[in-house]
Amino acid sequence: SVLEMEVEQIKKGNYDHFMQKEIHEQPHSLTTTMRGRLKDNSVVLGGLKEHLKTIRHSRRIIFIGCGTSYNAALAARPLFEELSGIPVTMELASDLQDRQGPIYREDTAVFVSQSGETADTLLALEYAFANGALCVGVTNTVGSTIARKTHCGIHINAGCEIGVASTKAYTSQIVAMAMMALAIGADRISTQARRQSIVDDLSNLPNKVSEVLKLDGEMRDLAESLIDTQSLLVFGRGYNYATALEGALKVKEVALMHSEGMLAGEMKHGPLALVDETLPIIVIATRDACFSKQQSVIQQLHARKGRLIIMCSEGDASSVRPVESCKVIEVPRVADCLQPVINVIPLQLLAYHLTVLRGFDVDQPRNLAKSVTTQ
Ligand code: G6P
Repeated sequence: SVLEMEVEQIKKGNYDHFMQKEIHEQPHSLTTTMRGRLKDNSVVLGGLKEHLKTIRHSRRIIFIGCGTSYNAALAARPLFEELSGIPVTMELASDLQDRQGPIYREDTAVFVSQSGETADTLLALEYAFANGALCVGVTNTVGSTIARKTHCGIHINAGCEIGVASTKAYTSQIVAMAMMALAIGADRISTQARRQSIVDDLSNLPNKVSEVLKLDGEMRDLAESLIDTQSLLVFGRGYNYATALEGALKVKEVALMHSEGMLAGEMKHGPLALVDETLPIIVIATRDACFSKQQSVIQQLHARKGRLIIMCSEGDASSVRPVESCKVIEVPRVADCLQPVINVIPLQLLAYHLTVLRGFDVDQPRNLAKSVTTQ
C-alpha cells in the first residue's frame, strides 16, 4: 500500500536502500556494540562473566554459523587462538550436521547468528548441547531462539538489520568476538600490552570506519568499470582470508555476479590457471605479518598479466602496485586483528554499487531470504 511504502521510505532516511543505509551506519552500530563494554583497558561482557573460567579450561573452541556469520567468526579466529591459546576450529552449521562431527563436554561451541533463528545453526546448537558442550551465542536479536537456548552469550547490539545481505551485523560480530577473545585472554600477563593496544584501537575504530566510508565515490567508479565482467576473484590471507570470502559473498548475493574469495596461500594450487588479462582480481595486501607474502602474490599475478585491483594500507600504493596503471584502494590502518572490519567496507560498497548499476534489487536479492528458518 501507499502507506507501507511511505513508512519504508521514512525508515530508510536519506538513503535509497536499506543495504546502503546499513553500510553507512557502521560507525554508529560499532559504537553501540562496544558501548559500556570497554572499561579501563579491559573488556566487560556481562553475559559471559560467569562462564569465562569454563571457556578458559575448554580443550577446543568451535565456531559454528552460516553465510556471513560464519565469515565473521573466521575473521575473529586468529585473535581467539592468539589470546586464548586454545585451538579454534570452524564449522559451517549444515556440514557439522551432515558429518555428525564429534563434540565433547570439554568443548566450547560458539554459535554466531545475526537473526538467532537460522535453522541449520539452531540444529547444530541442539546437537552440541546434547553432547554436553558449553554453548555460547553471538546474536543480534534479543530473545531469539539461539539467544535463549545457549548457556550464555553476547548480544552484538548492531541494531535491526533489514537488507538481506548482512553488512553492519558482520562488522559488529567481528568486534563482539574480538572483545570476547580479549575477555578470555584477560588472565594472561604475557599478552597485556597486546591487549591494551587492541582496546585502544577498538575505541578509535568507529572514526576509522567513517574515514573508509569516504571511499564510496571511488567504489562506485570501480563498480562502473566492472559492470560487465563475468566474474571477480578476491584473494586474502591471515586476518583477511575472511574478508576475501565475505567480499565475494556480497558480490554474488546482491550483484548476482560470479565471485569467489580465495586463500592467497592456495593460489598456486589451482586458481592461478584462471588468471588472464580479462578476469578482475582483488588482492588484499594491507599491512600485517602476511604483507610480504601478499607482495609476492601480486608479483606472480602481474607476471601472468592478471587484471589487478589492490587493497593496501594508506601510503602504500607505490610499494604494492606493480605498474602505475594498476588500480589501488588505500584504506586506513588499524590493529592487524581489527583490519578486517575496515577492509570489508570498500567491498560492501562495491557490491552495493555493482547491484544498483546492474539494475538488480539491492534489499531483496533473487531467491534469498534474510532468515533461513527451514532446512
Ligand atoms: C541468510 C542471509 C545471510 C546470513 C545467513 C546466516 O543466508 O541471507 O545474510 O548471513 O542467512 O544468517 P544468520 O541470521 O544466522 O546470521
